[in-house]
Amino acid sequence: MTTHTDVPVLAIDGPSGAGKGTIARAVAGALGWHLLDSGAIYRALGYAAGLRELDVADVGAVARCAMDLRLEFRDPGDGGDTRVIIDGVDATDALRTETAGAAASAIAALPEVRKALLDKQLAFRQAPGLVADGRDMGTVVFPDARTKVFLTASPAERAERRYKQLKAKGLDVTLASLLHEIELRDARDASRSVAPLRPAADAVVIDSTGQPVAAVVDSVLALVRKD
Ligand code: C5P
Repeated sequence: MTTHTDVPVLAIDGPSGAGKGTIARAVAGALGWHLLDSGAIYRALGYAAGLRELDVADVGAVARCAMDLRLEFRDPGDGGDTRVIIDGVDATDALRTETAGAAASAIAALPEVRKALLDKQLAFRQAPGLVADGRDMGTVVFPDARTKVFLTASPAERAERRYKQLKAKGLDVTLASLLHEIELRDARDASRSVAPLRPAADAVVIDSTGQPVAAVVDSVLALVRKD
């Protein structure tokens, strides 16, 4: 596979609900760069494994599923969310739930799975640049990223944001259960032995608690333009 190591990458890592998706999309739009939502890849695999009724403990089967996952990201063209197509079926809505997030987090702890998904992520590095959002973009997938941001926010604010997001999509959730699930997922993501959630040594940490989206976008754009 050709990797374009000369193409600039902005890595945005951080815990769930820190606003990575929103900020990554806005920054990619402003720069005219490509966007990689790596969480969607893990969610899609968790979902596909569920559809195929695979046992998560059967690492070989999940890794094979990762290898032959037919995944497509489609821009709806109306400014709406990117559609995620798995094996030809639009699974965008199913992937947004906390259940899909938890399934993703469980399979994401398997080193074989992370390895099997590496090339799919590297393939997004295309000119003129890439904004990559995830947990290990700056540490593992694109360690040579030109700019690295670790975006965080208080757990209460992250739960509140997810709550509003999911409610707006018509999903039935409670704030207390979301906070609990987010804390469980963060603990699992941070404590796994492979690619644990942590800032890269050369990442700039941005705490978005109480900050409007536009202010965070401006801070990130300023970092990219400086690097
Ligand atoms: O970002 P999002 O909430 O969609 O990610 C879902 C899960 O996928 C995370 O909780 C994490 O376990 C996993 N993930 C990961 N590495 C990434 C992106 C997501 O392990 N780069």
